[in-house]
Amino acid sequence: MEDHVHLKTQLNKDKLLDVLTKSHSPYSKFRVSAQIVEKLSGESFFGCNVENASFGATICAERSAISSMVSNVGSKAEIKEVHIVSDMEEPVSPCGVCRQSLVEFSTSETRVYVYAKDMKSFNVFSMSDLLPHAFVSF
Ligand code: THU
Repeated sequence: MEDHVHLKTQLNKDKLLDVLTKSHSPYSKFRVSAQIVEKLSGESFFGCNVENASFGATICAERSAISSMVSNVGSKAEIKEVHIVSDMEEPVSPCGVCRQSLVEFSTSETRVYVYAKDMKSFNVFSMSDLLPHAFVSF
């Protein structure tokens, strides 16, 4: 990873990699962890994927982190940054369900960083990159 990314973001690489080891993924054997930097509190919230024998009950790392964020900050929480890492050699982007969940708490300034497992290569996206024409109200 380039040094300027460390300077400009609030990535907590050690904690993100520690949370990756907490993943409950006996079925896919695919571990994912996420850090959300919340704007109003300035705090970070972490999550990992939690799988279930009833596969549809699985929660992804990103939504696990969102639950922690909202439980601590409340409904007005705003996502400044998301940092996501997995076991893959290449960066893996959030699934469609997580994109919809992230957009609920995102702004045009929100940035999503997805890292390869060595944390050296990464991609960065806005939420409109990830989910154009999002459904946000009714
Ligand atoms: N997974 C995540 O945690 N985040 C994503 O955005 C993609 C998928 C998890 C869910 C499941 O435990 C495993 O990866 C395989 O789909």
